[in-house]
Amino acid sequence: MTREQRLNAIWARTVEKLKEVVREFRITEDELHAAGDYINRLGQSGMGRSLIDVALALTAVDIATKSKSGTRPNLEGPYHAKHPMRPQGNLFEHAPESDAPRLTLTGTVTDAATGAPLPGAQIDFWQTDNKGTYDHKGNHLRGIVVADNRGRYKVSTVVPNDYSEHDHDPIGELFRAMHKPNTRAAHIHAKVSVGGKLRLTTQIFMPHSRFLDKDYVEGAVSDDLIVKLEPETTAPGAVKAYRAQFDFAV
Ligand code: BEZ
Ligand code: FE
Repeated sequence: MTREQRLNAIWARTVEKLKEVVREFRITEDELHAAGDYINRLGQSGMGRSLIDVALALTAVDIATKSKSGTRPNLEGPYHAKHPMRPQGNLFEHAPESDAPRLTLTGTVTDAATGAPLPGAQIDFWQTDNKGTYDHKGNHLRGIVVADNRGRYKVSTVVPNDYSEHDHDPIGELFRAMHKPNTRAAHIHAKVSVGGKLRLTTQIFMPHSRFLDKDYVEGAVSDDLIVKLEPETTAPGAVKAYRAQFDFAV
């Protein structure tokens, strides 16, 4: 199929499917024009790509990787940056909030096809703090760790939190109108590279999130990407600390 034929086929099928929706919900001409106005506002706000991510992009990722074994991929999202190496496995750029629950995340990186460990694999992590805020100016809770000679890695960080986005743009407007949360379930992003080649982009979810079953990114959360948090024994009155394990097969 040429590019032009594919585009024609996709357009025809999309219009056909949308006509079904118009018929099913008896959508009026005025409502269609309101939808057009919404799309104009969405475009002006620069959020068209984000709405595609929220509604559909993961379906494309799942189809593209369906026949591949290994860790389920997930969306990169808009907050990846160029991150520093963290030779000590410590993602802190400055001291965390004193009440931020600490997290030690460990695991292995193995080859999905052979099961062999992948020494030297690089894992690029980024996440929010315990209040659900990303550091957009610096590299706090961001950084790259390297797997050791047995493919093991260890990171010290904090437990991330749920966060809402798009409160002040047309995506938030849409979710408010539906009375649906525009909230991401607490997660840690990771990109795994081996020999300089990107092999996996995924997200690791925290089990305590109230949004695991209603993350506003359609299909983002799956059981295989949720870690268990085991409490670390800490002195009374000390900050809470947890450990979790996540193994990457790439
Ligand atoms: C995020 O985790 O930052 C994200 C991922 C996909 C869509 C929107 C946000
Ligand atoms: Fe995120």
